[in-house]
Amino acid sequence: MIILGIESSCDETSIAILRDGKDILTNKISSQIEIHKEYGGVVPEIASRQHIKNIAAILDEALEEAKITLDDVDYIAVTYAPGLIGALLVGVSFAKGLSYAHNIPIIPVHHIKGHMYANFLEHDIELPCIALVVSGGHTNIVYMDENHKFINMGGTLDDAVGESCDKVARVLGLGYPGGPIVDKMYYQGDRNFLHITEPKVGEYDFSFSGIKTAVINFVNKMNMKNEEFKKEDLAASFLGKVVDILCKKTLKSAKDKNVKTIILAGGVAANSLLRSQLTEQGAKLGIKVYYPSMKLCTDNAAMIAEAAYFKLKCAEKKEDCFAGLELNGIATLDVTKDLY
Ligand code: KG4
Ligand code: ZN
Repeated sequence: MIILGIESSCDETSIAILRDGKDILTNKISSQIEIHKEYGGVVPEIASRQHIKNIAAILDEALEEAKITLDDVDYIAVTYAPGLIGALLVGVSFAKGLSYAHNIPIIPVHHIKGHMYANFLEHDIELPCIALVVSGGHTNIVYMDENHKFINMGGTLDDAVGESCDKVARVLGLGYPGGPIVDKMYYQGDRNFLHITEPKVGEYDFSFSGIKTAVINFVNKMNMKNEEFKKEDLAASFLGKVVDILCKKTLKSAKDKNVKTIILAGGVAANSLLRSQLTEQGAKLGIKVYYPSMKLCTDNAAMIAEAAYFKLKCAEKKEDCFAGLELNGIATLDVTKDLY
């Protein structure tokens, strides 16, 4: 079975070709980071235009690399939600055009489910499991049952974890995206430099806005007093606290649900401290922690194709997974409210 995956929800245009849910024949990713860097974040209008400019050429490259034609494609999987609406619409419209012209069914995929299924491309995941979803736009603890059904156990009440990493990095003048830079700086700083209190929220909920503000206030205070400080110490204090909280709450949810498997999903799953701390603390409780390889942590179409593969596998009738040409992009949609 050949699934063509299409991803364009943010600043990566990606097309992948997946065979039988395991073999990634190709996973082309065209990143716009260099273009958006100049503005300190993703500019939605520019993102949409870049997707339009690139998407057809990326498809040609993908087909060539996989040595197939569109006649060999059984299904088209496309991200329809959530994300930047203009960016999503490029992928969705492109998928609809291909579907109409070549008579291939479309399977719409929720982007966050894609991030979760990135783990299934590389590991045999035992269900039920807990997924910690951490990206630029999301921070959620999700329970996934044996039938691949999802229950949202909790999430952030304000900023997403990746967003707060990016904001802290911006205040420290470190560049964009901030997550990977803060990740590296952690090891050069003293995590006990700034005491940050943990926000009091629900047992599986998060709040990163206060933690981010504590760092910003400290920077402003030092700047006003013209006093020097080591940026690495602040990055380490911030990331250390954030990772402690993520690990504590994720492990608590796994214990409460009596599951032995945790999967990390989303761009922040690339964070080295989060990977190592969660794996180490999980092992002490007999819980196995999985995360995707670096290339599959950030936005890519192979994970979208994989989510579609499992959707088909779990469906009573294949047709239940398909969308017609009325398919639209949706900017905001909770993972448990997936429409398809
Ligand atoms: O999933 P993703 O590629 O896009 C969204 O769907 O949001 O995630 C991007 C986010 C950005 O906020 C970026 O700073 C963060 O993931 N990120 C990291 C790391 N690599 C990427 N955050 C912390 N540590 C990293 N190594
Ligand atoms: Zn993403």
